[in-house]
Amino acid sequence: MTDSITVTDNRTGEAVEIPIVDGGVSADELRKLIPGIWISDPSFMTTALASSAITYLDGEGGVLRYRGYPIEQLAERSSYLEVAYLLVHGELPDAAQLQTWTDEIRMHTYLHDNFRKRFLDGFHYDAHPMGMLVSGMAALSTFYPEAKDVTDPAVRRRQIIRMIAKVPTLAAACHRYSVGMPFVYPDNSLSFTENFLSMMWKVAEPRYEPDPVLARALDVLFILHADHEQNCGTLAMRTVGSAHADPYIAASAAAAALSGPLHGGANEQVLRMLASIGHVDNVPAFIADVKAGKGKLMGFGHRVYKNYDPRAKIVKQTADAVFEVTGRNPLLDIALKLEEVALSDEYFISRKLYPNVDFYSGLIYQAMGFPTEMFTVLFAIPRVAGWVTHWQELLEQDAKIYRPRQLYVGRESRDYVPLEQRS
Ligand code: CMC
Repeated sequence: MTDSITVTDNRTGEAVEIPIVDGGVSADELRKLIPGIWISDPSFMTTALASSAITYLDGEGGVLRYRGYPIEQLAERSSYLEVAYLLVHGELPDAAQLQTWTDEIRMHTYLHDNFRKRFLDGFHYDAHPMGMLVSGMAALSTFYPEAKDVTDPAVRRRQIIRMIAKVPTLAAACHRYSVGMPFVYPDNSLSFTENFLSMMWKVAEPRYEPDPVLARALDVLFILHADHEQNCGTLAMRTVGSAHADPYIAASAAAAALSGPLHGGANEQVLRMLASIGHVDNVPAFIADVKAGKGKLMGFGHRVYKNYDPRAKIVKQTADAVFEVTGRNPLLDIALKLEEVALSDEYFISRKLYPNVDFYSGLIYQAMGFPTEMFTVLFAIPRVAGWVTHWQELLEQDAKIYRPRQLYVGRESRDYVPLEQRS
C-alpha cells in the first residue's frame, strides 16, 4: 500500500499522485492539476492551516498535549508560567531557566500610567471588560513601536514577555474600573496567578494573601486554557500576524475572536444559561427546547472533540477543590443534571456532543467571586501564551500572508442604473 492519493481530472484524463505527509495532502499539488479551480472548504472544516509543533489534539480520543506533554500531567505538576515557557521555547525549563523566565515576566508586569489615567478612563462605567481588553491590547502597540519589527527574533521575544506579563494587569484594571475601585499595582513578590488575584481583590490590606487552594485552582485553569492549536482566536492571531502587523494588534484580533459566544465567550453564556434554568426540575424542559432548535446547550460540543474534552474532566475535579473553600455553587446541581440528561440523550449521543472546557469553568470563577463579565477575560489571560507562540512559529516558518480564495456566486457584470431609473 502506498501512502498517497491519486486524483484524476475527468475533463482531461490527467492525474496527479499526492503523498500523504503528516496526515495531510498538499493542496498545492492539487492546484497543479486543476489550475483556476479552488478547493471549497467553508469554515475550514477539512483544511489543515499550518504544520505546527506546538499542540497535539486528538478529538476522537480526547487527547491534548502541549509540546508532547499530556495536559493531565501538566495540570497536576506544572505551573502556568512553566507551561508558558514550554509553549514558547518548546522544552520545559531547568531551574535556572525558570527563574530567569519568571524574573523576566515580573519585570514587565507594569502598565504605562496613561492606561489608568487616560485610556481606561474613557470607557463607560459598565463597559464589558472583554471590549476593554481587546482595545487595551491593541493600544499596547502604541507604547511599544519597536514591536513593528517582527523580523527581529530579539524584538519578538521582548514583546512575547511583555504580553504574557501585562495582560493580567490590564485584565484586573478593567475589572477595577468597572467596579469603581482604585487600580492595584502588581506585587512582584507573589506568583503570576497570586499577583493577578491581588490586583483583582486587594482593598486596604498592606499585602494581599491569596488562598493557596484558589490560587492553585486558577493556575490549573490557566494551564488548561494556555493553547488549543488552530482555533478561531489563534487563526485570527495568525491571519493578522501573517500580514506582519505587530503582535499587540494581532493579539487584539485574537481576543476579539475569543469573545464570541461560540468560542471563549461560551463560559459566560453557560452561567447565564444555568441561572435562567433556575432549578434541576427545569432541566428536561430546557433540553427539549434545545432539541427543538430553540437555542444551544452552551458549554457542549466542539469542532474537534468528539469525545469528552480532557480539559473539562480536569475542570470538574478542580471545582471540587474550590468548592471545599468557597462552598458549593448552587448552580452545580443544574450543571450536573444537564450533563447527565444530555449524555444519555440520543440527540447529543448521535452528534457526539460532550461538555467542553467552558461547561464547568464558569462555576469555579463564580464561586471564586469573579463577575460573569470577567469569565472570558480569564480565558484570554493564559491564552496569550498560545497566541504568541503561534505567532512566533508563523514568523519562523516565514509563512506567506494569509489570503484564501472564494467561489464567486454573485451577479454577472451589469451596467450602472441612474437613481431616477431604478424602480
Ligand atoms: N447544543 C445543541 N446542539 C448542538 C450543540 C450544542 N451546544 N453543538 C452542536 N450542536 C448540534 C448542531 O446543531 C448540529 O446539529 P445538526 O447536525 O442537526 O444540524 C450538530 O450538533 C453539529 O454541530 P455544528 O454546529 O455543525 O458543529 P461545529 O463544529 O460547527 O460547532 C461549536 C462547534 C463549539 C461552535 C458548537 O458545538 C457550539 O455552538 N457549542 C456551544 C458553544 C460552546 O460551548 N462553545 C465553546 C467551545 S470550546 C471552547 C472554545 O473553543 O472556545
